[in-house]
Amino acid sequence: MRSNFGSRLGMVLASAGSAVGLGNIWRFPTEAGRNGGAAFILLYIACVLLLAMPVMIGEFVIGRASRANTVDSYRVLAPGKPWVVTGFIGVIGGFLVLSYYSVVAGWTLDYTVVSFSASLMKPMDYGEYFNSFIQNPSRQVLAMAAFMAVTHFVVARGVEKGIERFSKILMPLLFAIILLLMFFSLNMPGAVRGLEFLFKPDFSKVTIQVVLSAMGQAFFTLSVGIGCLATYASYFSDDTPLVRTALNVCVIDSLVAISAGLIIFPAVFSVDGVQADVGPGLVFITLPGVFNSAFGSYPLVNYIFSSLFYMLLFLAALTSSISMHEICTAYISETFHTERPVAARIVTAICLAMGSVCSLSFGILSSVHVMGMGFFDLFDYLVAKFCMPLGGMLICTFVGWDLKHSTVREQLNSRITPLLMFLFRWVAPIGIGTVFVYELMDK
Ligand code: PHE
Repeated sequence: MRSNFGSRLGMVLASAGSAVGLGNIWRFPTEAGRNGGAAFILLYIACVLLLAMPVMIGEFVIGRASRANTVDSYRVLAPGKPWVVTGFIGVIGGFLVLSYYSVVAGWTLDYTVVSFSASLMKPMDYGEYFNSFIQNPSRQVLAMAAFMAVTHFVVARGVEKGIERFSKILMPLLFAIILLLMFFSLNMPGAVRGLEFLFKPDFSKVTIQVVLSAMGQAFFTLSVGIGCLATYASYFSDDTPLVRTALNVCVIDSLVAISAGLIIFPAVFSVDGVQADVGPGLVFITLPGVFNSAFGSYPLVNYIFSSLFYMLLFLAALTSSISMHEICTAYISETFHTERPVAARIVTAICLAMGSVCSLSFGILSSVHVMGMGFFDLFDYLVAKFCMPLGGMLICTFVGWDLKHSTVREQLNSRITPLLMFLFRWVAPIGIGTVFVYELMDK
């Protein structure tokens, strides 16, 4: 007997939990800030609607029609054909993404603990603090391993008792923290300038590079291309409306991303002399300083704001890492007929090893390069620039051209099926393919 999600709400929250993650709160504001604000946001929305959402719906179809892990799903739906490669790209992508995602997630866990202990509250050089933190081997590996252990705990408990139950608790908590922080932030003196920065379209910044980033962001933030949502969909019930569910997930995910911008930029612009477009260091270097100066005279507000902010990042990362782990755990347990807890232990052990290498690539392994990159950057490159677009392209092509039309129609059960077929067959493969080739040439 395969397990299923117990309720429609749990299923939507689990899928949205997979989507909502560091990609929304850490990556989106950074990318939007660097790439022309509203101009980037418009491109991003176009990429979601035309490219990433079709992949998500395609994954839903594959997962629910086969009711199997992402490798077996192709064996069920297209026996003897090479489509199964798409499934392997997914499982490999799952291992890689969990390994390096846990490193940054470990940082959020460490920062949460440190914020709650109030030791981030004194003025200091936060850049130096962060650099010495990421170069400290034991603290790095410990933070990553602690995060992985929490992920393991949830996944090992199973679909309904683990993933679904935790999503039902964590997601509402996450929404509540977002609303509270947004309220704080929008009442700060720099709110208007922050909103301007995020929403003023600067079309002069739009280059082909920005289009590539918008698509990369759309894929990463919606967790598509590596069979994560296909695996979740294999636990959906038969009457779950796939198109509406995908729409819900995309809307929730985009709202969270924009809310993160509404939390971060008003705060950043409320402090003189702070740069908003600094890149990935924004959340771990710039923000602690911002919290400190913005609320310096109200230590309690600073304490609450920063602790909640890092806890938000941690929780968002957790609901995503659970879904990455599940791709691999479902595959291992169904392929080798092992109990779920055993399969989960195997996945965790492999990812702990790979995650350690990634986390050390900022310190003692910083001189080791593969394809010109440290391990962390290499894994990120392989997932975001390779597995996700290639997988996404193959998924749409498979659903559009190879899968029986009656199966697709029956699964979709929607009035917009002809439109979706057009996206599966032409728009998504050609659009994603073009971007993919560009990126490979760029390297
Ligand atoms: N969507 C997640 C985020 O925004 C990341 C993710 C990628 C999750 C791939 C699952 C699979 O952080």
